[in-house]
Amino acid sequence: MLRSLIFLSCSALALAGSANKGDNCSTSDNRLQIGTYQFFSDCNSVTYCAANGTCVLKGCRKDEFPFGYQTGSHLPDLCPSGQFCPDEADVCQDLLPVNSPCQLNRDDECEAPPNAAQLADTTNRGLNVNGAVCLNNVCMWANRTSGESCTVENTAYIAYGGSGEFIDIVSRGNCVAGLYCDSVALQCMAEKNIGDSCSADKECSSWNCLSSGVCGIDTTIPKHVGTWVYIVVAIGIFVAIFGTLLGLFMMHRRQRDQEREKRMQYWREQNAFHQNLLQMRQTARASLLSLPNNGNSARSTMYSRDGMHSDEMPILQHAAPKASGLRHYMGDDSSDEGVMMQPKRDGRF
Ligand SMILES: *[C@@H]1O[C@H](CO)[C@@H](O)[C@H](O)[C@H]1NC(C)=O
Ligand SMILES: *[C@@H]1O[C@H](CO)[C@@H](O)[C@H](O)[C@H]1NC(C)=O
Ligand SMILES: *[C@@H]1O[C@H](CO)[C@@H](O)[C@H](O)[C@H]1NC(C)=O
Repeated sequence: MLRSLIFLSCSALALAGSANKGDNCSTSDNRLQIGTYQFFSDCNSVTYCAANGTCVLKGCRKDEFPFGYQTGSHLPDLCPSGQFCPDEADVCQDLLPVNSPCQLNRDDECEAPPNAAQLADTTNRGLNVNGAVCLNNVCMWANRTSGESCTVENTAYIAYGGSGEFIDIVSRGNCVAGLYCDSVALQCMAEKNIGDSCSADKECSSWNCLSSGVCGIDTTIPKHVGTWVYIVVAIGIFVAIFGTLLGLFMMHRRQRDQEREKRMQYWREQNAFHQNLLQMRQTARASLLSLPNNGNSARSTMYSRDGMHSDEMPILQHAAPKASGLRHYMGDDSSDEGVMMQPKRDGRF
């Protein structure tokens, strides 16, 4: 039943009176607005309707940050301890003793009991103020214990949710903390634990009666997740980081391999050209040597220095080192050194 209530905030603006300071007003128009129970008078938000029928600047404020004042404007004073500022905000008054008339939801107008510290509401749920409570416009103390008769006050607010307007009944009583005033039996009863059947939020110690009719968990306590969730999230983060790094590494390695293949192809072509040139030179030399006038000693000596043994070598070397060099190159992919070394070795020719 605990739903987020969206009271029309604009209603506060719209429902404030429009009469300025010094204008006529009627105290008989003072009232609580239907649905919101906000105090209304003919006068605007900084004035109140005085007994002589004119709007007069407010003489006190009940809120630290009162509504309807311009930024930086002078605010009326808060009331000293032992006094309160009524809804009209005309002047501070002394706290009211038990059984005095008080204004709706103004527990702070009532005098605290002697054992205020013991009875005071510590749950921050607005059960009472210093052990005093204003129910049905009468000041009393929230001192009723289990099984004792109690007073209950049900107020129906008009609330607005996602599915539109609905009635939100707020039920208050004068039982001590930990008990609630049952609206039917009018007796103080112990608050119920999670899972017990309930019909209103006030019956549950968690302050949350679910629509299924059982007490649910307190919606105000922060949600805690198990340690495993933190571990899973941490692992997820690391997997994402290292997955990205690995993906980039693989991509770059593929590109690198492609580049290397291109360079190797280039080298193979260059090498083939080189071999062709050599062969052409060999062929040319062989045809020169086979000429009948090769008895010239100067020429023969000149050629025999490097030419004679390279006659034989190219045939062996062309096939062997090139092939083995390639095999070596293909086999050992790890370094670019092989590519650089290979032309040097062959460049000797
Ligand atoms: C205020 O009320 C007085 C008498 O009650 C009347 O004479 C006067 O015209 C009113 N002023 C305004 C602004 O209504
Ligand atoms: C009405 O009463 C207030 C004080 O309550 C006073 O300041 C103001 O002057 C009075 N106005 C008239 C028109 O008598
Ligand atoms: C309980 O509070 C009421 C006023 O609401 C008071 O009259 C009564 O004496 C208190 N009882 C005890 C035991 O304090």
